[in-house]
Amino acid sequence: MTGTRALSKYWMLTNDFTQNPYPVLEYVRRESPVRELSFPDGGRAWVVTRYEDAKAALADPRLSRDVHVHYRLMSERTGRTMTPPPEEANHLANLEPPRHTPLRRAISFAFTPRRAEALRPKVEQIADELLDRLAGLPRPDLISGYADPLPVIVIAELMGVPADAWPDFLRWSTALRTHSPTEGSGALDRNIQELSHYMSALIAEKEREPGEDLLSALIHADPERRLTSTEILSTGFALMTGGNDTTASLVGGVIAALLAHPAERAELLAEPGRWGRSMDELIRYVSPIGNALQRVTTEPVELGGVTIPAGEVVVISVMSTNRDPHQFPDDPDGLDLTRPKPAHLSFGFGIHYCSGAHLAKVITEIAARRLFERFPRVRFAVDPSELRYQQNVVVRPLEALPVVF
Ligand code: HEM
Repeated sequence: MTGTRALSKYWMLTNDFTQNPYPVLEYVRRESPVRELSFPDGGRAWVVTRYEDAKAALADPRLSRDVHVHYRLMSERTGRTMTPPPEEANHLANLEPPRHTPLRRAISFAFTPRRAEALRPKVEQIADELLDRLAGLPRPDLISGYADPLPVIVIAELMGVPADAWPDFLRWSTALRTHSPTEGSGALDRNIQELSHYMSALIAEKEREPGEDLLSALIHADPERRLTSTEILSTGFALMTGGNDTTASLVGGVIAALLAHPAERAELLAEPGRWGRSMDELIRYVSPIGNALQRVTTEPVELGGVTIPAGEVVVISVMSTNRDPHQFPDDPDGLDLTRPKPAHLSFGFGIHYCSGAHLAKVITEIAARRLFERFPRVRFAVDPSELRYQQNVVVRPLEALPVVF
């Protein structure tokens, strides 16, 4: 690709980009690493593609994740006053210090790597049950039948939702997937209202009778600053919105990557102790969140030689940063399970670093390992070049992953 005019002003929104973003990102990273992107509604964003610029942006308090700042910007743009509903307005992923700080402290106390590790047997059981259902099918789809439901059920279990409510939970989670916090008018659809009622009742129950689950731990995390019921409800929403699509995207992406790399797959199966060490390279290579990191500038900010005015949207292309040759000099586009400690940005960086990173790794390792252990001859049912990614601005999931066991 030559000359900047080769790219349209909607360059990141095209289906060609969704299906194969890497050549475009390689070009942008080299030629205009902080590049403007237009939206059909007249809005615009600044896309950051270099690793160092992305880290600087994520550490910069002038770049805000506060949902109120985002809604204010949208209200100005559309001329309609928009406010976030309480479920979105009171959780850590949507707030900045000082409101972020006590919520983050509570979740760091309650949601430890140990809690994620303790879920291993349960994750294995849920993965096996989902695989049992797929085992008899001639051409099962590992996205709709495996990668999508697995994290929803695990997160329900994590939060102490009883098994008889899991089917409802799946339905509500699907509704949450299509609901965008930055596009709504503040009204929640019926499914999400049902979820909200259900969670409020569950939280009231855990307040009276705490269990061993994460919601109970959150309620009792910090005796000096008890979270309010609204904050706990909202944090429950953060766990679902933050954990479901992202983990589903990673599970599907890792399985597809290992189907396409039989030598690496054989190594992992021969030496299961390597799964843990290989996970970060798989996550770097797959980049399950695509371009999900978004901020709004609260002051003019210089990034990569470009001055971005105040009140502008900044998008960090994690897919691009994870393949930046300055950070990953040896074959950044290749999967190399021996790459030493690949410091990818798939879980973010700075104060909003993903609270569920360890659980996401546990789920993905078990999902891939159980599939390949149980069905050692599993292969793509279509030519891998026919696989399609969903047109999704947040995560980067495959539409379907049909296989033959
Ligand atoms: C592969 C799976 C996952 C990926 C790629 C991922 C990615 C991320 C990223 C990039 C952020 C930072 C967002 C930003 O700075 O703008 C984040 C935050 C967060 N994630 Fe994850 N996540 C995953 C799984 C999970 C899971 C399983 C949970 C919980 C069950 C979770 C809960 C959270 C929460 C609560 C935050 C907000 C932290 C804060 O704002 O302080 N994530 N995640």
